[in-house]
Amino acid sequence: MLLLLPLLFKGILCHGPGTGATRVLAPHHPATEEPPTFRLLEIYSFANQTWQQTESSGWLGELQTHRWDPVSGTIQFLWPWAGGNFSKEELKNIQALLQLYIHSFPLEVQAFSSQFQLEYPFEIQVSGGCGMHSGKDPETFLNAAYQGSDFLSFQDSSWKPSPGAGSQAQNVCKMLNHYRVIKEVVQGLLSNTLPRFLSGLLQGGKSDLERQVKPQAWVTKGSSPGPGRLLLVCHVSGFHPKPVWVMWMRGQQEQRGTQLGEVLPNADGTWYLQVTLDVVAGQASGLYCRVKHSSLGGRDIIIHWDGYPISLILICLAVAVTLVTVLVVGSWIKQHSSNQSLCSPHAPSPAAPTDGNTQEPRGSGNHLCLAQRSWIKNKLLKKWKKSLYQL
Ligand SMILES: *[C@@H]1O[C@H](CO)[C@@H](O)[C@H](O)[C@H]1NC(C)=O
Ligand SMILES: *[C@@H]1O[C@H](CO)[C@@H](O)[C@H](O)[C@H]1NC(C)=O
Repeated sequence: MLLLLPLLFKGILCHGPGTGATRVLAPHHPATEEPPTFRLLEIYSFANQTWQQTESSGWLGELQTHRWDPVSGTIQFLWPWAGGNFSKEELKNIQALLQLYIHSFPLEVQAFSSQFQLEYPFEIQVSGGCGMHSGKDPETFLNAAYQGSDFLSFQDSSWKPSPGAGSQAQNVCKMLNHYRVIKEVVQGLLSNTLPRFLSGLLQGGKSDLERQVKPQAWVTKGSSPGPGRLLLVCHVSGFHPKPVWVMWMRGQQEQRGTQLGEVLPNADGTWYLQVTLDVVAGQASGLYCRVKHSSLGGRDIIIHWDGYPISLILICLAVAVTLVTVLVVGSWIKQHSSNQSLCSPHAPSPAAPTDGNTQEPRGSGNHLCLAQRSWIKNKLLKKWKKSLYQL
């Protein structure tokens, strides 16, 4: 048991007691949020005239819903509801269209690379999608970036160069605008197919999008920021949805030096955040990391830097005290029962000669003594078991 304690300390997830003054979670609370946007992302990397690579994926808000498998040329649906309410037939048609597009687009780019003075290596990113806004028409978009900067977009049924993208983008748009059929297909996808697809996704994915998963939190020491200084790191992981509030605190005081990392995705669709504080080594005591999240229902997680959560400390203290008590009382009982002084102080020593009369009271006294001992033992044992159980 005692050997297990350090392990428990290390590994336990520390859900601290909530305090009375629960603040409302930051402005980004899910209740009032617009439904998420659906977007298709494509990244085309061109190393030279003959080598290119394409990555393509679908995203509902922050959640990846689709992947393009370039080997089989098929859409991979990452959730049971990722087909929206589209029929198999319709999904097949979309897949065929994507096959054609993902295959031919890079070839076209290669063919036109010298005419438009594209310099290897270069990267083209395309983002197209649709967002729903309460009470308004769905908002659609299709943008392309060249070397990480805005290049052109599709607006009002034609291709427009992005501001600042220069003559290169103007020339590309001029050429693209000659292809009337392509513009019609793109317009149809944006104004009809995508909004229909999105509403099916939002219906099917509702429970996964809105699921509440509690964070786990722990603290570690980061690599020292300098002599005599400590970097306290609070890790918060496995939570959903993404909005979270994490702060290093002392008492009720938020520590201004708290540095928030970027909220990063875990592989299972939950999130991870690291929050650090650089302090003078002697002043770390009393600091704690506080986590607020919609899944916690106002019961903030509190992790103390130089200790463990109060509840855990109390439980362990109780166990330790009880153990010591059991040992002390146990040995005391043992000691005293061996010379019988506990229950029958007037009893003669076992070696002394006895007759029938003196035997009687001594026997009942012994009985009482045994009962008392087992009562104490039982009581302590129960208490001890209870403490263990709480652990
Ligand atoms: C094109 O780039 C690829 C990947 O970097 C490289 O393996 C290949 O040798 C290059 N081909 C030419 C013709 O430069
Ligand atoms: C899918 O749902 C949307 C919105 O409810 C609806 O407009 C559409 O007709 C449904 N079916 C298909 C096949 O798009």
